[in-house]
This record gives sequence, C-alpha cells and structure tokens, in this order.
Amino acid sequence: MNFKQIHSEILEIYKNNLRYEFKENIQEIEFDIDIENLRKEIFDIIIKGDHGFNSVALKTKKIKGSYQWEDDENRQMLYDMSFNHLESGGDAIIDDELFSSESNTAWHPLLSEDSYVKKLTNSLEEFSGVNISQVVLSWMLPNTHQAMHMDFETLRFHVPLMTNNDVWFLQDKKSHFMEYGKLYHLSTISNHAVANYGITPRLHLIFSTYLGLDIQDKLKKLGTLDITEENIFSSVANGGFDKYSLSQLTKIYASKKNQTLSNLHNKDCDRKWIKTLTAINKKSR
Ligand SMILES: [Fe+2]
Repeated sequence: MNFKQIHSEILEIYKNNLRYEFKENIQEIEFDIDIENLRKEIFDIIIKGDHGFNSVALKTKKIKGSYQWEDDENRQMLYDMSFNHLESGGDAIIDDELFSSESNTAWHPLLSEDSYVKKLTNSLEEFSGVNISQVVLSWMLPNTHQAMHMDFETLRFHVPLMTNNDVWFLQDKKSHFMEYGKLYHLSTISNHAVANYGITPRLHLIFSTYLGLDIQDKLKKLGTLDITEENIFSSVANGGFDKYSLSQLTKIYASKKNQTLSNLHNKDCDRKWIKTLTAINKKSR
C-alpha cells in the first residue's frame, strides 16, 4: 500500500460521508456566517483571555489529563509529517487521543452557553455530516510562513476573520486565496503551505474534523508508511539531485557551517536539510 492509495481511500470515505459535494482539496462552501457576531465574540475571548497573538483553542481535547487553551506549537507538530521520519526510521507521531471523541473535549471557559461559535460548530456539523473535534484560532503575523507539510486530520474548515491580499496558501502547485468571512474546506493530508507576506496579521478560525474508526486506522497507516522512493523521494526526483550534486552541496554547507542559516529557513529546518538529503540519497541508491 502506498501513500497515494491510502490518501485516495481516505478521501473516498470523506466524499461518501459529506452532505455536500467535495470538488477540490480547497473549496469555498456556501454557508451563511454572521461574521460581525462571530468576530466580536472571537476578539472578546482573545482580549478577556489575555491570549495575545497565541493560537487559542476554543474547543479542544484533553491531552495528558488537561485542556490546554493556548498553543505551544507542539500541537501542530504532532500532526505534521516532516522529514524527521527519515531519522526516526519512519515512526509517525500519531496519538490515539488526537482522534478521540466528544466525551474527551471541552469548550473554552470564556465561551457563554449561547455562544455563536458553539452554534456555528453545531450547524456546521449538521450541514457537513462530519464531527468537529477542535476549534482553533490561528494567527499568522506579517512576514511569517508555515513550511510545506501535511496534517493527519484529513479535512478542516477555515473562516478568515482577518486577512490581506498578500496571504498565500499553496496547495496542488497553485496559490489559493481565502476571502474574509467566507467558509472553506481544506483537505490537509495533501502537502500545503501558507505565508503572510502582507503588513497586517492573518486570523483564521479553524475547525478540525473526524469521522469513524476506519478512517483513524487508515490515518495511522498513512503516518507509519515506509519512507520509500514512491512516498517521499518523488519530491526530489528529476530536480538535479544526485550523488554529484549532493557532494557539492555538502562541501558548500561545510564551508559555511558557522554562519547562521536560521534567517533563511524555517527554524526547525535550518540544520536538518543536509541530513535529509543525505538520507534520501542513501535510501535511493
Ligand atoms: Fe496544515
């Protein structure tokens, strides 16, 4: 079983369970949102909760016995499939609790009983036919980006609460733009990245979804696939990456190794990419 097969099986399950037509990995969905009401509630929570520009969970799962409202970045990393797997021998970081059920989730303590976010979440579940496990507020400050990655969550809904024309969402070799106040779905098990090159922050309300146990098993498989040429190496195929260019890269890297590369690269990637290339080269021989 390779990545593509599992990926398409998962999408098939979603397509069969969704109550609207799935057309594309990123898709605008016709759905009425009272954006004024929504953003008032959101900004109130951010300010009253003193969350600053941290990501905030409005609905989240109990992890290690407690609810964590502010993101410490680890939550995102749990879902990310990065090249780290090359070093860890292909073990994916998938936690059963991440897919767990309603009984294990709670709403942010500052949300009222008749909260609009709660109503919106319920009507979105009703409309779409999928369950919503997490609702998160995610900031992206000017001149920041998220590296290319995939998330082990299959499908998410996004509502831009603040955006600008220089926010770029990249998927399927295309750039997509999500408009303020509209609803979109994203299929997040295909590689994507986002950057805010604008001068204002971006703020999205993001709904994570889950279906039944069968999809959970497939997601686990997806996370523990062997790093094979077919699954990973296609990203470097035909790109002039071979034994020769690797040896040249290694020389260049060694000659400049005392210089900081962190301003050029994502902070997690700055020292890893040569290791990654070396591992790919070894495995593809
Ligand atoms: Fe993502």
